Amino acid sequence: MSSHELAVVVLAAGKGTRMRSAHPKVLHPIAGRPMVHAVLSAAQPLEAGRTVVVVGPDMDELRRAVAPLPCVVQRDQAGTGDAVRAVREVLAGFEGDLLVLYGDTPLLRAATLQALVEARHAQPGPGLVLLGFRPDDSTGYGRIVLDGEARPVRIVEERDAGDAERAIGLCNGGVMIAHAATLFGLLERVGRDNAKAEYYLTDVVALAAADGLARGLVEAAAEEVLGVNSRAELAVAEAVLQQRLRAAAMVGGATLIDPTTVWFAQDTQVGRDVLIEPNVVFGPEVRLGDGVTVKAFSHVEGADIRDGATVGPFARLRPGTVVGEGARIGNFVEAKNSRLGSGAKANHLAYLGDTAVGAGANIGAGTITANYDGVRKNRTEIGARAQIGSNAVLVAPVKVGDGAVVGAGSVITDDVEADALALARPRQTTIPGGGARTRERAVNRTLEEDD
Ligand code: UD1
Ligand code: CA
Repeated sequence: MSSHELAVVVLAAGKGTRMRSAHPKVLHPIAGRPMVHAVLSAAQPLEAGRTVVVVGPDMDELRRAVAPLPCVVQRDQAGTGDAVRAVREVLAGFEGDLLVLYGDTPLLRAATLQALVEARHAQPGPGLVLLGFRPDDSTGYGRIVLDGEARPVRIVEERDAGDAERAIGLCNGGVMIAHAATLFGLLERVGRDNAKAEYYLTDVVALAAADGLARGLVEAAAEEVLGVNSRAELAVAEAVLQQRLRAAAMVGGATLIDPTTVWFAQDTQVGRDVLIEPNVVFGPEVRLGDGVTVKAFSHVEGADIRDGATVGPFARLRPGTVVGEGARIGNFVEAKNSRLGSGAKANHLAYLGDTAVGAGANIGAGTITANYDGVRKNRTEIGARAQIGSNAVLVAPVKVGDGAVVGAGSVITDDVEADALALARPRQTTIPGGGARTRERAVNRTLEEDD
């Protein structure tokens, strides 16, 4: 089996000119995560022995995004063939197959890549297998020319194609698997005599045919191979991916009342018997346990929402938030880097930043943890079963003990011990008859002015 060891290379060095962006194309997010992450996760189940990303010079942002995967720099963006050549050195002595993926095709499915690997395994000697598809609109894609036995004989890029070739419906999806050493050998013979004056990876197909090597084809559904070259195509890909994520959540046992208004991230984990109301947005790194309800108009990112908890409507959960079992976050509550114990409640109009709330505690309406002193973020700790009255401000760093009660409107700057009552507000003064006298004076003033 050692001859079928697998390496994956993801081409991501292209400038992505058509995006008109300061950032590498493959870093543009789709479902909340960089496009290239979607490509990498499609390849993950193949468990390739090594994965390399080809990046352009000055693409540190991209290197960081794919770390710890190794990157190879392609000096000039001289085409997809040149990009694959860039990994030749790091794969020196590698005897297996190389799967080439383009970083700008984020809708690829793992099963399709698996089919390519299997098709390659079925070939008798060194050879290559392409991924083809038949889009409604072939504009911009290379066309795959087949021989009488349905084997690819060459790929013609659109700009280099004549009318007859342009009429071919079968397009190149940009994924190829080939015996690595053979592929590098073929690439040495690829020139740049074409419309873009680039080294096309696609030219290896004609060379393989000339050498009598095995050439196979796997066909994928058109939507799966959509290449993202512009913002408009990015929006189309986003819509397709969202539809898949919504369908997967429902298959997994979640109810989405209006699926088209719920936006997931590539990595959202959704439990069973979850109810998601309309107009909810999930950013990256969200986990919803079983029986969770997320009510309308909530925005949730980087949050772990445990079994039976309720969030929203109109809640904002930011990274580092844990909502414990059966806990409740209500309307107009924002939480950041905060942990609510099981059964704790913050039901109305609160801000919890860098805060730990114990089990069963209740955070009154309008409570704010003042976590930022202008220099540092400080922590607030609220004990189990504590009760924080409405409109309290807890000035961090500060601790409120288990079972303690904080009076409404208090500004708490000192720690409160367990079971204590803390009041930090002026005492109320009531003057009998004072209200009536005040009104009388006001009326008299108006009469004088009218005279
Ligand atoms: C390419 C294919 C085309 C196929 C289409 C599928 C070639 C010559 N053409 O065209 O047959 O139908 O994809 O989507 O391969 N890249 C580099 N270095 C470079 C150039 C590109 O790393 O020098 C990377 C890009 O970042 C991108 C990928 O390769 O992720 C594809 O490049 P792109 O320029 O988008 O190719 P297409 O013109 O779309
Ligand atoms: Ca492309």
